[in-house]
Amino acid sequence: MFISFEGTEGVGKTTLIRKIYEYFERQGEHLVLTREPGGTPLAERVRDLLLAVNHEEKMAHDTELLLIYAARAQHIQQVIIPALDAGKTVLTDRFTDASYAYQCAGRGLSKEKLNILNQTFVSQMPDITFWLDAPIELGMSRARERGALDRFEQEKVDFFERVRQGYHELHQLYPERVKRLDATQAPEQVFEDALIYLK
Ligand SMILES: Nc1ncnc2c1ncn2[C@@H]1O[C@H](COP(=O)(O)OP(=O)(O)OP(=O)(O)O)[C@@H](O)[C@H]1O
Ligand SMILES: [Mg+2]
Repeated sequence: MFISFEGTEGVGKTTLIRKIYEYFERQGEHLVLTREPGGTPLAERVRDLLLAVNHEEKMAHDTELLLIYAARAQHIQQVIIPALDAGKTVLTDRFTDASYAYQCAGRGLSKEKLNILNQTFVSQMPDITFWLDAPIELGMSRARERGALDRFEQEKVDFFERVRQGYHELHQLYPERVKRLDATQAPEQVFEDALIYLK
Protein backbone atom coordinates (compact mmCIF):
# COMPACT_ATOMS: atom_id res chain seq x y z
CA MET A 1 0.00 0.00 0.00
CA PHE A 2 1.07 3.54 -0.79
CA ILE A 3 -0.28 6.16 1.63
CA SER A 4 0.24 9.92 1.58
CA PHE A 5 -0.44 12.51 4.28
CA GLU A 6 -1.46 16.03 3.34
CA GLY A 7 -2.54 19.27 4.90
CA THR A 8 -1.37 22.77 5.74
CA GLU A 9 1.43 23.56 8.20
CA GLY A 10 1.22 22.16 11.70
CA VAL A 11 -2.00 20.17 11.30
CA GLY A 12 -0.30 17.03 12.63
CA LYS A 13 0.89 15.07 9.58
CA THR A 14 4.20 14.01 11.09
CA THR A 15 2.54 13.17 14.41
CA LEU A 16 -0.03 10.91 12.71
CA ILE A 17 2.55 9.20 10.50
CA ARG A 18 4.64 8.37 13.56
CA LYS A 19 1.64 6.85 15.33
CA ILE A 20 0.72 4.72 12.33
CA TYR A 21 4.32 3.65 11.90
CA GLU A 22 4.59 2.59 15.56
CA TYR A 23 1.25 0.81 15.47
CA PHE A 24 2.28 -1.43 12.57
CA GLU A 25 5.78 -1.84 13.99
CA ARG A 26 4.26 -3.30 17.17
CA GLN A 27 2.44 -5.80 14.97
CA GLY A 28 5.73 -6.79 13.39
CA GLU A 29 5.16 -4.98 10.10
CA HIS A 30 7.94 -2.66 9.04
CA LEU A 31 6.70 0.29 6.98
CA VAL A 32 8.77 2.66 4.87
CA LEU A 33 8.54 6.21 6.20
CA THR A 34 9.44 9.05 3.88
CA ARG A 35 8.64 12.66 3.02
CA GLU A 36 8.48 15.31 0.32
CA PRO A 37 10.11 17.35 -0.85
CA GLY A 38 12.97 15.01 -0.02
CA GLY A 39 13.20 11.35 0.87
CA THR A 40 16.62 10.73 -0.69
CA PRO A 41 19.94 12.52 -0.04
CA LEU A 42 19.77 14.37 -3.37
CA ALA A 43 16.08 15.21 -3.00
CA GLU A 44 16.74 16.48 0.53
CA ARG A 45 19.27 18.91 -0.93
CA VAL A 46 16.59 20.15 -3.30
CA ARG A 47 14.30 20.49 -0.26
CA ASP A 48 16.90 22.72 1.38
CA LEU A 49 16.84 24.94 -1.72
CA LEU A 50 13.04 25.07 -1.65
CA LEU A 51 12.74 25.95 2.03
CA ALA A 52 15.69 28.35 2.30
CA VAL A 53 14.75 31.96 2.95
CA ASN A 54 18.10 33.57 2.09
CA HIS A 55 18.06 33.50 -1.73
CA GLU A 56 19.45 36.67 -3.39
CA GLU A 57 16.51 36.62 -5.78
CA LYS A 58 12.86 35.66 -5.52
CA MET A 59 12.26 32.07 -6.61
CA ALA A 60 9.92 32.02 -9.62
CA HIS A 61 6.78 29.92 -9.12
CA ASP A 62 7.70 27.75 -12.14
CA THR A 63 11.15 27.16 -10.67
CA GLU A 64 9.58 26.10 -7.39
CA LEU A 65 7.28 23.67 -9.20
CA LEU A 66 10.10 22.16 -11.24
CA LEU A 67 12.41 21.79 -8.26
CA ILE A 68 9.65 19.95 -6.43
CA TYR A 69 9.23 17.62 -9.39
CA ALA A 70 13.00 17.13 -9.73
CA ALA A 71 13.05 15.98 -6.11
CA ARG A 72 9.89 13.92 -6.64
CA ALA A 73 11.32 12.08 -9.66
CA GLN A 74 14.33 11.06 -7.58
CA HIS A 75 12.12 10.05 -4.66
CA ILE A 76 9.80 7.94 -6.82
CA GLN A 77 12.63 6.11 -8.57
CA GLN A 78 14.94 5.62 -5.59
CA VAL A 79 12.49 5.02 -2.75
CA ILE A 80 8.81 4.63 -3.59
CA ILE A 81 8.89 2.23 -6.53
CA PRO A 82 11.57 -0.09 -5.10
CA ALA A 83 9.71 -0.29 -1.76
CA LEU A 84 6.33 -1.00 -3.38
CA ASP A 85 7.95 -3.57 -5.69
CA ALA A 86 9.34 -5.28 -2.58
CA GLY A 87 5.80 -5.49 -1.19
CA LYS A 88 6.30 -2.86 1.50
CA THR A 89 3.81 -0.24 2.63
CA VAL A 90 5.05 3.30 2.07
CA LEU A 91 3.96 6.29 4.16
CA THR A 92 4.88 9.63 2.64
CA ASP A 93 4.59 13.00 4.36
CA ARG A 94 3.18 14.93 1.34
CA PHE A 95 3.06 13.96 -2.35
CA THR A 96 1.49 15.26 -5.60
CA ASP A 97 -1.62 16.68 -3.92
CA ALA A 98 0.62 19.14 -2.14
CA SER A 99 1.67 20.49 -5.54
CA TYR A 100 -1.96 21.00 -6.48
CA ALA A 101 -2.72 22.69 -3.17
CA TYR A 102 0.41 24.84 -2.82
CA GLN A 103 1.60 25.53 -6.37
CA CYS A 104 -1.78 25.64 -8.15
CA ALA A 105 -4.33 26.76 -5.55
CA GLY A 106 -1.77 28.68 -3.45
CA ARG A 107 0.61 30.18 -6.03
CA GLY A 108 -1.85 30.32 -8.89
CA LEU A 109 -0.01 28.09 -11.39
CA SER A 110 -2.21 26.40 -14.00
CA LYS A 111 -3.54 22.92 -13.47
CA GLU A 112 -2.44 22.09 -17.02
CA LYS A 113 1.22 22.52 -16.03
CA LEU A 114 0.77 20.23 -13.08
CA ASN A 115 -1.14 17.65 -15.12
CA ILE A 116 1.70 17.47 -17.63
CA LEU A 117 4.22 16.84 -14.86
CA ASN A 118 2.05 14.24 -13.17
CA GLN A 119 1.29 12.41 -16.41
CA THR A 120 4.94 12.45 -17.43
CA PHE A 121 6.76 11.78 -14.17
CA VAL A 122 4.39 10.23 -11.64
CA SER A 123 3.83 6.56 -12.41
CA GLN A 124 2.37 5.71 -9.01
CA MET A 125 -0.41 7.49 -7.14
CA PRO A 126 -1.23 6.77 -3.49
CA ASP A 127 -3.90 4.20 -2.69
CA ILE A 128 -5.05 6.36 0.20
CA THR A 129 -4.40 10.00 0.98
CA PHE A 130 -5.15 11.35 4.43
CA TRP A 131 -6.00 15.03 4.36
CA LEU A 132 -5.63 16.45 7.85
CA ASP A 133 -7.92 19.44 7.90
CA ALA A 134 -7.96 22.21 10.50
CA PRO A 135 -8.32 25.99 10.50
CA ILE A 136 -5.11 27.69 9.37
CA GLU A 137 -4.66 29.55 12.64
CA LEU A 138 -4.75 26.33 14.65
CA GLY A 139 -2.01 24.66 12.61
CA MET A 140 0.08 27.80 12.61
CA SER A 141 -0.12 28.18 16.36
CA ARG A 142 0.99 24.54 16.71
CA ALA A 143 3.83 24.98 14.22
CA ARG A 144 4.96 28.33 15.59
CA GLU A 145 6.28 26.68 18.72
CA ARG A 146 8.92 25.01 16.56
CA GLY A 147 10.88 28.24 16.00
CA ALA A 148 12.27 29.81 12.81
CA LEU A 149 9.90 29.82 9.83
CA ASP A 150 10.88 28.42 6.41
CA ARG A 151 10.07 30.04 3.04
CA PHE A 152 6.57 28.51 2.90
CA GLU A 153 5.77 29.12 6.54
CA GLN A 154 6.52 32.81 6.02
CA GLU A 155 3.52 33.11 3.67
CA LYS A 156 0.47 35.03 4.82
CA VAL A 157 -2.72 33.46 6.11
CA ASP A 158 -4.63 34.04 2.84
CA PHE A 159 -2.07 31.91 0.98
CA PHE A 160 -2.76 29.01 3.34
CA GLU A 161 -6.51 29.56 3.05
CA ARG A 162 -6.13 28.98 -0.71
CA VAL A 163 -4.00 25.90 -0.03
CA ARG A 164 -6.66 24.53 2.30
CA GLN A 165 -9.29 25.22 -0.35
CA GLY A 166 -7.11 23.32 -2.85
CA TYR A 167 -7.10 20.28 -0.59
CA HIS A 168 -10.87 20.62 -0.21
CA GLU A 169 -11.23 20.50 -4.01
CA LEU A 170 -9.10 17.35 -4.20
CA HIS A 171 -11.20 15.75 -1.49
CA GLN A 172 -14.31 16.44 -3.56
CA LEU A 173 -12.71 15.36 -6.85
CA TYR A 174 -11.27 12.07 -5.52
CA PRO A 175 -13.45 10.99 -2.59
CA GLU A 176 -12.40 7.35 -3.00
CA ARG A 177 -8.75 8.16 -2.46
CA VAL A 178 -8.65 11.36 -0.42
CA LYS A 179 -9.97 10.87 3.12
CA ARG A 180 -10.52 13.94 5.28
CA LEU A 181 -9.52 13.71 8.91
CA ASP A 182 -10.70 16.28 11.44
CA ALA A 183 -7.32 17.49 12.65
CA THR A 184 -8.77 19.74 15.35
CA GLN A 185 -9.20 16.59 17.46
CA ALA A 186 -6.67 15.14 19.88
CA PRO A 187 -3.81 13.21 18.20
CA GLU A 188 -5.17 9.89 19.54
CA GLN A 189 -8.57 10.48 17.94
CA VAL A 190 -7.06 11.54 14.60
CA PHE A 191 -5.09 8.28 14.67
CA GLU A 192 -8.21 6.22 15.50
CA ASP A 193 -10.09 7.84 12.60
CA ALA A 194 -7.23 7.05 10.20
CA LEU A 195 -6.95 3.46 11.40
CA ILE A 196 -10.49 2.72 10.21
CA TYR A 197 -9.25 3.01 6.62
CA LEU A 198 -6.16 0.87 7.22
CA LYS A 199 -7.75 -2.28 8.62
N1 LIG B 1 -4.10 16.61 17.04
C1 LIG B 1 -3.25 17.43 17.65
N2 LIG B 1 -3.65 18.20 18.68
C2 LIG B 1 -2.78 19.04 19.29
N3 LIG B 1 -1.50 19.19 18.96
C3 LIG B 1 -1.04 18.46 17.94
C4 LIG B 1 -1.88 17.54 17.23
N4 LIG B 1 -1.15 16.95 16.25
C5 LIG B 1 0.08 17.47 16.35
N5 LIG B 1 0.16 18.36 17.37
C6 LIG B 1 1.34 19.16 17.76
O1 LIG B 1 1.39 20.25 16.85
C7 LIG B 1 2.72 20.45 16.38
C8 LIG B 1 2.78 20.22 14.87
O2 LIG B 1 2.51 18.86 14.60
P1 LIG B 1 3.22 18.11 13.39
O3 LIG B 1 4.66 18.43 13.35
O4 LIG B 1 2.82 16.68 13.45
O5 LIG B 1 2.46 18.81 12.17
P2 LIG B 1 2.84 18.76 10.64
O6 LIG B 1 1.54 18.76 9.91
O7 LIG B 1 3.77 17.64 10.38
O8 LIG B 1 3.57 20.15 10.44
P3 LIG B 1 4.48 20.62 9.21
O9 LIG B 1 3.54 20.89 8.07
O10 LIG B 1 5.09 21.89 9.66
O11 LIG B 1 5.45 19.53 8.95
C9 LIG B 1 3.59 19.49 17.16
O12 LIG B 1 4.11 20.18 18.27
C10 LIG B 1 2.62 18.39 17.59
O13 LIG B 1 3.02 17.78 18.80
MG1 LIG C 1 5.65 17.65 9.52
